[in-house]
Amino acid sequence: MHENKILAICLKSYLRDHFCIFGTGVVGRTLGNKLIQLGHRVMMGSRTADNEKALEWADKNGRLALCGTFSDAAEFSNLIINCTKGAITLEVFELAGKEKLKGKTILDLSNPLDFSNGMPPSLYPQWSNTYSLAEAIQDALPQTFIVKSLNMVNCEVMADASRCGGNATMLLCGNHDKAKSDIKEILHEFGWKKTLDLGDIKGARGMEALLPVWLRIWQSTGNGHFAFDIVGI
Ligand SMILES: NC(=O)c1ccc[n+]([C@@H]2O[C@H](COP(=O)([O-])OP(=O)(O)OC[C@H]3O[C@@H](n4cnc5c(N)ncnc54)[C@H](OP(=O)(O)O)[C@@H]3O)[C@@H](O)[C@H]2O)c1
Repeated sequence: MHENKILAICLKSYLRDHFCIFGTGVVGRTLGNKLIQLGHRVMMGSRTADNEKALEWADKNGRLALCGTFSDAAEFSNLIINCTKGAITLEVFELAGKEKLKGKTILDLSNPLDFSNGMPPSLYPQWSNTYSLAEAIQDALPQTFIVKSLNMVNCEVMADASRCGGNATMLLCGNHDKAKSDIKEILHEFGWKKTLDLGDIKGARGMEALLPVWLRIWQSTGNGHFAFDIVGI
């Protein structure tokens, strides 16, 4: 095989093997654990390099786990999973450095939830109905490939679709086909056998609007380990 071709294959598997997670909350840690179980290298990013939750997570997960600032983590991988609080998520990309995110793919699973009036949260009006948080991220980072997915399930279900029976449908959307196909590979690794592509990033309006439905089901049943299935298509 030609040397350049071998180099390209090695580089592709090297880059594919590295993930960056923005966010030290339960979602970031759950997906970080899962990616490491699957044998990937993961860097968790936060506001400071000495974030206690990130250091503890990296310590527990051994040699495949690293942590640093958002900017360090953005440099580490071409594939970023955004697990930060919806209200401040746009600030996080400023902190990471927009230049560093050019040409990279971001799997966005954040939700525009406003907890200021207690539970249940509502959707922030500026990021709902005729707009969405994922669109706001895409508009802020025009040279980055945003893919929305996983936001409408609990994080344990995100990382392991069999937690809700394994037959549900995972929705995704985004403007870039290659980025969506890369994200589908991760979804498959997390056990999502059925995926449904809703088209461009505007599809996130509906995906984020599923949150009030998700919250109501959770309140009514007391069970967060469920997912939506699309039948009849
Ligand atoms: N919980 C679930 O199962 C679930 C399911 C679906 C979607 N989601 C979505 O996933 C995202 C993460 O949820 P979560 O519960 O893991 O965590 P979260 O509490 O919503 O967010 C935690 C992250 O946000 C960062 N953060 C908070 N305020 C900040 C600020 N002013 N500037 C910069 N960073 C700030 C925190 O940084 P520090 O570490 O520095 O505090 C931390 O990394 C949310 O958007 C949520 O809606 C959650």
